[in-house]
Amino acid sequence: MKILVTGANGMLGQDLCPILQDEGFEVIETDIDTLDITNIKNVEDVLNSKKPDYVIHCAAYTNVDKAEEDIETAHKINVTGSENLSKICKKLDITLVYISTDYVFDGTKKEKYLPSDKTNPQSVYGKTKLEGEKAVQKCEKYYITRTSWLYGHHGKNFVETMISLKDKDEIKVVDDQVGCPTWTVELANGIVKLIEEKAPYGIYHVCGSGKTSWYGFAKKIFELCGYKVNLQPCTTSEFPRPAKRPAYSVMENNKICRNWETALKEYLELRCE
Ligand SMILES: NC(=O)c1ccc[n+]([C@@H]2O[C@H](COP(=O)([O-])OP(=O)(O)OC[C@H]3O[C@@H](n4cnc5c(N)ncnc54)[C@H](OP(=O)(O)O)[C@@H]3O)[C@@H](O)[C@H]2O)c1
Repeated sequence: MKILVTGANGMLGQDLCPILQDEGFEVIETDIDTLDITNIKNVEDVLNSKKPDYVIHCAAYTNVDKAEEDIETAHKINVTGSENLSKICKKLDITLVYISTDYVFDGTKKEKYLPSDKTNPQSVYGKTKLEGEKAVQKCEKYYITRTSWLYGHHGKNFVETMISLKDKDEIKVVDDQVGCPTWTVELANGIVKLIEEKAPYGIYHVCGSGKTSWYGFAKKIFELCGYKVNLQPCTTSEFPRPAKRPAYSVMENNKICRNWETALKEYLELRCE
């Protein structure tokens, strides 16, 4: 089975590709230099010559705050890029796997979001990712995997940011946004599971089980690392950001990934090796 990965040099792509190889898949790694998803001719040429069975589409515009002013680029990559892949995958009968986000929700729900729940993104990033979902659904053979609060060994992320701040006199972290931290390896394993089990096409939530606030997440990171830090909870209004985030974006994952604390412990142990 042949799988082509877009955005393979990104944080998820760098963990996903070796996991796919270990599972015995033939993996074709691409990124903007070898497959620019915004160029439909490039997409058609590459998919036609490589003829993969699956495309796992990890490429995206992921700077959530910058997207608020760089709307055109965010749209071009997240919407046009996904439309291009969807059109060509449909034409060539390739199954398309798209990585989406909890930011498609407005965060006003008080209990876990189900894949069928109403979407209502509050940011440019969330809106473009949702439009990407809609484009991917036109492919018919598709998996949409919504994930959240992603961290991994190969990218800028919350865990690494917190660790880099450990020597500060005080660290304030928002305590009124609740979600599901997800290690890239957990997401990659979840995607493999969907493919290998030939799960029905559709939308899945592939995120860490359980829930926490950003403050709770930071507290756990420092506790597991054994760092003594003056960590203080604060509110979103004390720490304004250009893009609005959902206050509550806990997603029902049907046990596809492990508990977020178990995964974080393993991530930190590997990091220290
Ligand atoms: N990070 C999170 O917390 C989070 C949460 C929920 C969902 N997601 C989703 O998870 C997926 C993976 O995220 P990630 O954190 O691994 O992202 P990432 O590290 O930003 O990787 C994205 C990759 O896509 C590449 N790319 C950008 N424009 C492209 C184009 N036109 N053609 C081909 N490749 C292009 C980027 O290259 P450059 O670096 O050169 O731009 C980068 O290598 C994305 O779909 C994202 O929306 C992420």
